[in-house]
Order: sequence, then structure tokens, then C-alpha cells
Amino acid sequence: MRVLVTGGAGFIGTNFVRQTVRERPDAQVTVLDLLTYAGDARNLEGLDRVRLVRGDVADAAVVDGLVADADLVVHFAAESHNDNSLTDPSPFVRTNVVGTFTLLEAVRRHGVRYHHVSTDEVYGDLELDDPARFAESTPYNPSSPYSSTKAGSDLLVRAWVRSFGVAATISNCSNNYGPYQHVEKFIPRQVTNLVDGVRPKVYGAGANVRDWIHVEDHNAAVWAIIERGQIGETYLIGADGEKSNLEVVRALLGIFGRDGDDFDHVTDRAGHDLRYAIDSTRLRTELGWAPRFTSFDDGLAATVDWYRANEDWWRPAKAATEERYRAAGHA
Ligand code: NAD
Ligand code: DAU
Repeated sequence: MRVLVTGGAGFIGTNFVRQTVRERPDAQVTVLDLLTYAGDARNLEGLDRVRLVRGDVADAAVVDGLVADADLVVHFAAESHNDNSLTDPSPFVRTNVVGTFTLLEAVRRHGVRYHHVSTDEVYGDLELDDPARFAESTPYNPSSPYSSTKAGSDLLVRAWVRSFGVAATISNCSNNYGPYQHVEKFIPRQVTNLVDGVRPKVYGAGANVRDWIHVEDHNAAVWAIIERGQIGETYLIGADGEKSNLEVVRALLGIFGRDGDDFDHVTDRAGHDLRYAIDSTRLRTELGWAPRFTSFDDGLAATVDWYRANEDWWRPAKAATEERYRAAGHA
């Protein structure tokens, strides 16, 4: 099977490619990645059956040639960080909306199966005590430039399925953690701060809740949807991992042997979503998926070990990332 993976040099895409090569001897993988600040070619070095093409998902000529040679397209490429979308939304519109449009036109022309990787943030946020969680039927209500461009891209996919019969599925997943995540994101930022002896930085009061899932569980769900999902359908991916930001920071402080209050509150994110929570009943009952990483504490400890062992991987991006946070008032 010839698989085109967009964004395969980023966090989730890298883990997807590595897992695919490990578990699927029949897969030939081509990665299309622009290698922005978030992509790293080193992640794919030495992997058998993987070819990396540096290019833009919004470049129709590049995309057309690669899609023509694929049996399956899995679309991870995106501008993915909410804080960056508040500083400069323009690459979010180009990559997330125009890039998805460009891929959809190519899979339409060539009749290629397409899976669209999206986020639970398209549903907006929940109150802390809301008994309901996000489900496939929840109306879209995105808050940030990032999540609104992801919502726009999902709607394009739905329209291309209905109007043109494109063979697509969509997944909307909650917050991922694990190896190869950029140091701008919450968990790697705090882990690498702690390695450097710097206090973790918590936005606002820290009461915001995220529904954490290990990246390998996310990617196993993506494969379940590709293989057993119904064309035209959406599946929510989540592992019942709700934690407040304070709980996560205190767990990290515990791993580093530090006092539970040894962190700083910093300026909150504008429009900060309060709580995400996923009901993944459909994925579990219809497709038989279940998470393997059922202990967040164990998954977090393994992730900390990975960052400790791979300082050469994250160190080059750390200072510039913290500089961006200082400029945005989050340091
Ligand atoms: P990431 O920022 O770590 O990686 C994005 C990758 O896309 C990078 O390798 C980057 O170089 C590449 N890229 C960016 N613009 C490109 C362009 N124009 N053309 C080609 N490549 C380009 O992101 P991630 O966290 O791995 O997220 C991957 C996907 O999963 C995104 O679509 C995101 O919306 C979705 N998602 C992420 C999470 C999460 O918790 N991180 C949760 C749910 C869904
Ligand atoms: O829900 C899925 C989404 O999860 C994905 O679509 C996004 O691509 C991904 O980045 C993530 O979005 P969040 O905004 O939830 O993740 P982030 O890691 O930026 O922040 C997680 C929480 O931690 C959020 O409430 C903001 C807070 N935070 C973040 C940083 C960077 C802090 O308190 N301190 C920080 O330094």
C-alpha cells in the first residue's frame, strides 16, 4: 500500500509514520512536509520504506503528483498551535484551509482514499461541571483562529464527500502527549523548563481541563478508522483522560521531585477554552478500538524519560520558543 502522509515530520505525523513502518510491512510511505519550525527531518532518518518530500500542501502541482501515486492520503499537516494563531493567523488560513482544499481536489481527480485528521477544538469548550461531553453530533463552535481554520477544513471534507463522492473519513481527537512533541506545547514546555531548573508556567488560574491521550493510541485509532470506518463519517477519538492544567503540572513537579506549588501563574491565553472532553463510544463500539495507554501517570513518566534522553532533539528550539513566549507575555 502506498501511503501519502502530510505533516509526517511533525509530532503526531512522525509517530504515525514510525508506527506504520513498525506494524505494516506492506506500507510504502511518502511524507509531504514543508519542514516549518514544527517539522524535523531528523525524526524520519534511517526509517525503511519512507521517503520525505519537502513541499507545501497548498502547492497544487506538488500535491497532484504525489496524490496520483498514492493509494491512501492521511492528512496531518497543519499549523497546530493556538498561541501562534493569536499572534499571526495568516499561515493557519493558508495551510489548514487552502492546504486541505488542495488535497481534496487532488484526491477527487485521482479517486484516492483520504483520511482527515482534526481536533476536538472545533466543538468549542464545555463548562467544568457540564455532564455532556463532545460527541459526533455536537455543533461546531470554534473559538480561536487555529480551531476555526480546522473547523473550516472539516466542513470542506464533508462537502467534498457529499458533492463529489470523495472517499473520506474524519477524526477529531483530544490533546495528545508523547515523544517528538514541540517544546512550545504545554507538557514539553514544562518538562524542558524543569530539566533546566525553571519553574513551570501556568496560564491564568490553571483550572482549564484537557482530555489527554497518548499519541500512539490516537494513531491506532486513525488506522482503525482507515480500515473499518464508514466513508463520509466522523469519529471522535479520546481516552477518558480529563485533567486540569494544575493536575498535570503537579504530576510533573512530582516526577522531578519538586514541591507541588513550585510553578508560576502567567498571563492567560486570549479566548482560552475552558474544558475539552470526548465521548468516544462510537469509535469503541463500532470499530472495536480501545486505548492501550490507560495510566496517564505512567505515560507521562515515559514521556519525561524521552525528553531527558533526547535533549539534543529539543534543545535547538528551546530558547527561541521561550523568547516567543516572553514577547507574548506568557513567561
Ligand atoms: P505539529 O505542529 O507538530 O506538526 C505539523 C507538521 O505539519 C509539521 O511537520 C510541519 O512542518 C507540517 N506543515 C505545516 N505547514 C505545512 C504545509 N503548508 N505543507 C506541508 N507541511 C506543513 O502538529 P501535530 O500536533 O503533530 O498535529 C498534527 C495534526 O493533528 C494537525 O492537523 C492537528 O490539527 C491535529 N491534532 C493535533 C492534536 C494535538 O494534541 N497535538 C490533537 C488533535 C488533532
Ligand atoms: O484538543 C486538541 C488540541 O490540543 C490540538 O488541536 C492542538 O493542535 C494542540 O496544540 C492542543 O491545543 P491546546 O491549546 O489545548 O494545547 P497546548 O499544549 O497549547 O495547551 C494545553 C493547555 O495548557 C491549555 O489550557 C493552555 C495551557 N498552557 C499552555 C502552555 C503552552 C499553560 O498553562 N501554559 C503553557 O505554557
